[in-house]
Amino acid sequence: MTPSTVLILNGPNLNLLGTRQPEIYGRETLDDIRALCIGHAGRLGFDVDFRQTNHEGTLVDWVQEARAAGSCAGIILNAAAYTHTSVALLDALSACETPVVEVHLSNIHKREPFRHHSYVSKAAVGMICGFGSHGYVLALDALARLVASRKEKE
Ligand code: DQA
Repeated sequence: MTPSTVLILNGPNLNLLGTRQPEIYGRETLDDIRALCIGHAGRLGFDVDFRQTNHEGTLVDWVQEARAAGSCAGIILNAAAYTHTSVALLDALSACETPVVEVHLSNIHKREPFRHHSYVSKAAVGMICGFGSHGYVLALDALARLVASRKEKE
C-alpha cells in the first residue's frame, strides 16, 4: 500500500456475488466490482488494493495494516454481515485514523430489522447503500473529495 492506495475491503459471502440472491445483490461478480473500482480509481488518481475475506479476524488484521499513518488514502468497507455484529471491527476502525467509507450493495434500511444497525457506521465518515455496485464508485468519489479537502487544509 502507498499513500495513493485505496484499500477496498469486502466481508463474508461477497465472494459469491453474481449467483448469491441476485434479486438483492445483482448479477455482477466481485471481480466485476473489482474491475469497476480499479477503472474509476485510476481516473481519480488512486491505486486500488481490493480484498475479500470470510473471516472477521482477517478484516481486523487488514484494518490494523492500514492504521500506520499515511499507509493508504482511505478504506472503503463492505463488511457484509459483520457490519451488524462486529464490535472487534468497530474497535479496529476506531483505532485507525484513515478515513473510512462504508458501502452496502443493498439498502440495509429496507431489509430485515437486524440489518438496520451498523457497528461500522460509528467509525465511518459516511455510508452509501442501495445503489448496487455503483455504491463503490460513489464511495471512491466521496473519498477523493475528502482526501483533497484534507490536503488543502494541510
Ligand atoms: C451487504 C448487506 C448485509 O446486510 C449483508 O449481510 C451482506 C451484504 C450489502 O452489500 O448489501 O452480506 O453488506
